[in-house]
Formats: sequence, C-alpha cells, structure tokens
Amino acid sequence: MKQGKTIRILFMAIAMTTIISACKKEPVDNNNGNNNGTTDTVEMTPYEFMLPTHFPAITIPDDNKLYVERIALGKQLFFDTRLSNDGKSCESCHKQEYGFSIPEPQHGFDKGHTSLPLINLAWNKNFMWNGRLVGTLEDVMMTELTVRFSTDIAKVNTMTEYRTMFKNFYGVDEITHKDMAKALAQYMRVLVSRDTKYDRYVKGQATLTLMEEEGRRIFFSERGDCFHCHTNLLATDNLMHNNGLDSVYNKEIDLGYFNVTGNENDKGKFRTPNLRNVALRTHYMHDGRFTSLEQVVDFYNTGVNKVPSVDPLMTKDNRDDVFGLGLNEVEKKQLVAFLKTLTDSTMIADKAFAAP
Ligand code: HEC
Ligand code: HEC
Repeated sequence: MKQGKTIRILFMAIAMTTIISACKKEPVDNNNGNNNGTTDTVEMTPYEFMLPTHFPAITIPDDNKLYVERIALGKQLFFDTRLSNDGKSCESCHKQEYGFSIPEPQHGFDKGHTSLPLINLAWNKNFMWNGRLVGTLEDVMMTELTVRFSTDIAKVNTMTEYRTMFKNFYGVDEITHKDMAKALAQYMRVLVSRDTKYDRYVKGQATLTLMEEEGRRIFFSERGDCFHCHTNLLATDNLMHNNGLDSVYNKEIDLGYFNVTGNENDKGKFRTPNLRNVALRTHYMHDGRFTSLEQVVDFYNTGVNKVPSVDPLMTKDNRDDVFGLGLNEVEKKQLVAFLKTLTDSTMIADKAFAAP
C-alpha cells in the first residue's frame, strides 16, 4: 500500500511537470562551432522537454539542443530506406504499432536479439540488451549509422532536400555521419511514454480492475519483487542483472554482459528492459525465447536458475537456496493483468511520431 501511495504521488508530480510545448521560433546562431568566420543565424522553434521531477536530469548535449525542426529532420531520416544498403529503414525494425519494436528476433547483424523498443531512451546511459554501448544517444546513433547501416555519406550529400535541411538546422554545408547522428538522436529523445492506463490510475483518472490492482501489489511488493529492477515503470534501473534465465549458456548471445567485459561474474547479465508496452511484444527476453507474458511469469515463478552470477534479488527470504515466487494460478493471472496496463495506446497512435 505504502509503495503504491509513494508512486501515486510521484506520478502526480510528473503529470504536473511533464509538459512538452512548442514555443515561438527564435533566432539561433547556427555557426555550429565551424569557426569558418561566418555567422549563420536561422529561425528555429525550441522544443521544451520538461523533466518529470523524480527522474534524474537528462543530458542534452550543448551542440544538439532540441528544436522542432531538427526533430522533424531526425524523424525523416528514421523512416528513410536510403540510409541503409539493403532497403531497410530504422522503422523496418522499430515500428510504432509495436512500441517502436518488432515481434520477431532479428538475425544476421543482430545475431538473434529481439528488437528493443525505442521508449524513454532519453534517460539511458547503457544501450543494447547486453549494454555494449555506453554514452549518449548521439553516440548510439553514430554506431547505428556507421556500423549497422554503413550509410553512404556521399549518396546522402547528393540529396538536395537533406543538404538544405542540414544547412538550415545544423549550419553545415557538407553532411557528415555525425550530423545525421545528431538529428536522429533528437527524434529518439522525444519518444516518451507517459499515458498508459497505469499512469492514468496513478493520476486518479482511471480505476484498475480487481485483477490489475492485485497484480500491481504483487509487482510492487516483496511478493513479486519486480520493482527492484523494473523501477517505477517509467524507465528501468538501466543496470545489468542476471535474472536466472540460463543454467548453461548455449548461444553466444546468452552470455550477455560477459561478451562486453569478459568478466565471469557478468555471465548472463542483461540490461533490465523497460516494461512499457510489453504486452505489444510477442517475443520476450533478449532472444525472444518466451512467446507470452504467461510464460514470462511462469519463468519467474518456478524457472529461475541458480547460477553463480544470478542476481541476489532473485533469491527469496534472504536465503541463498530459495528461488521462485510461489505464486498461485490466480496470482499469476493478476500479475499478467497488471503488465497489460502498461500499454501506451496514446503513444502508439501519436501522429507526431508517425511517418512524415
Ligand atoms: C534489422 C533490424 C533493425 C534495424 C534496421 C535497426 N534496428 Fe535498432 N535495434 C535492432 C535490434 C535487434 C536491437 C537490439 C540489438 C542488441 O541489443 O544487440 C536494436 C537496438 C536499438 C537501440 C538501442 C535501444 C536500447 O534500449 O538500448 C536503438 C536506440 C536503436 N536500435 C535505434 C535504431 C535506429 C535509429 C536505426 C536506424 C539507423 C535502427 N535502430 C535500425 C534492430 C534494428
Ligand atoms: C534482478 C532484476 C530483475 C527482477 C527482480 C525482475 N526482472 Fe524482469 N527482467 C530483468 C532482466 C535483466 C531482463 C532481461 C533478461 C534477458 O533478456 O535475458 C528481464 C526481462 C523481463 C521481461 C521481458 C521483457 C522484454 O521486453 O522482453 C518481463 C516481461 C519481465 N522481466 C517482467 C518481470 C516481472 C513480472 C518481475 C517480477 C516477478 C521481474 N521481471 C523481476 C531483470 C529483473
């Protein structure tokens, strides 16, 4: 009860402070650090990203301030199949209707990982399932463009439309991968989910069914212990944990964070995923091994493996040898019902995020 109340208050605070508003255009010195002796002043519309109060501040790099025009440019790049060499756009694997993810695991470049949902990334520092990228969204976008897509920058520079937009919004004559990464990062940063049934419940605008309410209690109490890692449901703790999926690591990707650090203790660790829109997914965990939320809950209930690097949170009652939650059939259904209240129908229908 106490936990629920605290969270309710936090959400009310967010409701009051999270306002995204587009203001009037303002002149921007767009010389962009080029030191070419010119001063290119353009008119752009600042995009105000007001922080939910209980979240750590997001860092927006000084040279990539949010403007409505730059976000629109990033969105256009996100949907453009010409960035890749195989006819794919970012959107091919990150579809709005699935919460900016897609159902099946991706092979080839992605080695069988499921596509991550692009939601509330503004707060992330660790990226990808196994945390292999650390840094800003600009850094991640740079890798997506140069490593995943090997984007042909000469080709992009032949597109007059982009030449004009980058000149106007970033003050550059010749587009580089870095400039493109900046624009994409703008669009990534504003993909914020805040209007699930659960948010509305916390704001006092919706009532949970009995099933959902009981599920909420399990999630936020020692009964389920989910909230320790899936913190606040607004994001995640963004840290690496082994939730005990495997006793033997059959596939290379199952080793998770170990593949990044080479440290034995990091075997099977993954970054806690954001559970917003989780019911829109059809494949769960880094490799999509579960195909329903019921299977996920069964796993937490009875399937946790006792491996050396398993997170202490996965054990029960402060005893190293007791695993699993011991939920009965009704409680399992309640937990699933609660997870379904995390679907953000507003975000997946929001035209501001849709194809330009
Ligand atoms: C072929 C499918 C595919 C394409 C195309 C694709 N992605 Fe992804 N994306 C994935 C998968 C799969 C992951 C998770 C990979 C991993 O963890 O190793 C991912 C991860 C990400 C992440 C990290 C999210 C997080 O929570 O850490 C971001 C950001 C991202 N993609 C953005 C993009 C952008 C921008 C583009 C276009 C430049 C793009 N993706 C193109 C499949 C794709
Ligand atoms: C010790 C931290 C921890 C705890 C406690 C925890 N989880 Fe997780 N959860 C994770 C990690 C890490 C993953 C990703 C594991 C992987 O992919 O290998 C995950 C994955 C999931 C997924 C799959 C999400 C997706 O997008 O594929 C769901 C659903 C989930 N957890 C729900 C829960 C529920 C419900 C509880 C409480 C019963 C819970 N978790 C407790 C860390 C935790």
